[in-house]
Amino acid sequence: MRLVILGATGQVGWQLVRQAPPSIEVIPVARQGTAVTLDLEDLDAIPQLLKTFRPDVVINAAAYTAVDQAEQEPERAQRINGTAVGRLAETMADLGGLLIHYSTDYVFAGTQSLPYRETDPPAPLNAYGYSKWLGEQAIAIHNPAHLILRTSWVYDLRGKNFLRTMARLAQTRPLVRVVADQIGTPTAAPFIARVTYQLLERWQADRSLSGLYHLTPRGSTSWYGFAAKIFDHLRTQGWAVAALEAISSSEYPTLAQRPAFSTLNCQKLEAVLGTPFPPWEVVLEPLLNQLDPQSVL
Ligand SMILES: NC(=O)c1ccc[n+]([C@@H]2O[C@H](COP(=O)([O-])OP(=O)(O)OC[C@H]3O[C@@H](n4cnc5c(N)ncnc54)[C@H](OP(=O)(O)O)[C@@H]3O)[C@@H](O)[C@H]2O)c1
Repeated sequence: MRLVILGATGQVGWQLVRQAPPSIEVIPVARQGTAVTLDLEDLDAIPQLLKTFRPDVVINAAAYTAVDQAEQEPERAQRINGTAVGRLAETMADLGGLLIHYSTDYVFAGTQSLPYRETDPPAPLNAYGYSKWLGEQAIAIHNPAHLILRTSWVYDLRGKNFLRTMARLAQTRPLVRVVADQIGTPTAAPFIARVTYQLLERWQADRSLSGLYHLTPRGSTSWYGFAAKIFDHLRTQGWAVAALEAISSSEYPTLAQRPAFSTLNCQKLEAVLGTPFPPWEVVLEPLLNQLDPQSVL
């Protein structure tokens, strides 16, 4: 099996490259820093690359992920997260391969009180969420063999993410104020990669497997709750950490509006894989144990 991984330098893409089973031939692709490069804004380069390598599977972990910046350049976000995904889907439909693609909890408005299912209607509040929804729709239109995996609040020990930002602020500020009225589920990039390969294995056994799935650990918390876990860990390791204060979203204005509640119900994917997902705290723990607080400064 030949697998092209797009976004190979991103949080999820990097873990996908690391965790690829040895039986798979992997071609990592990024905008720069890989032997094969691709800028998704160069729409014609997408079919060119895929028709050169003719992969059995493409995993698209590349995306415009700057949620606030997307408010200022929504067309660019739509080009990368929507139009380019359409070209990917169209080409994979031609080639007859599988497209695995990631989407986001931010396609939802956050007005529900129960975790969102795949059948719940998207109603994005911000430009990033809208652009990712366009990508989902583009895949549905071209309809290659596909698996769309919506995930949320992605972090890892590398990259730009909440875990690393909080670990840095905990050590460099006297007080850190974090919003407590946005509820969702922190999801580690290594977990996403692991589950993706489990699902790919299922697809190899049953090629009729297709569609939209939610992929996060179980449970939920607020950004404040997530920060508190990180701060508690650093404290128990003997580090002097900042005071942590819970605030409301109105006290921390951002360009993009975010859903108040975007927990995803992952039962559909758990049923396919035949196993319940662990709670988010259990997924976080090994990463906290590997975190070198000085590496984030
Ligand atoms: N991060 C989150 O909290 C979150 C939440 C929900 C869903 N997701 C989804 O999960 C997936 C993976 O996210 P992630 O957190 O791993 O993202 P990430 O760390 O921001 O990585 C995104 C990758 O996309 C690449 N990229 C951006 N624009 C590109 C372009 N025009 N052409 C080619 N590559 C481009 C980036 O390359 P450069 O390094 O060159 O910029 C980077 O390698 C995405 O689909 C994202 O929408 C993420």
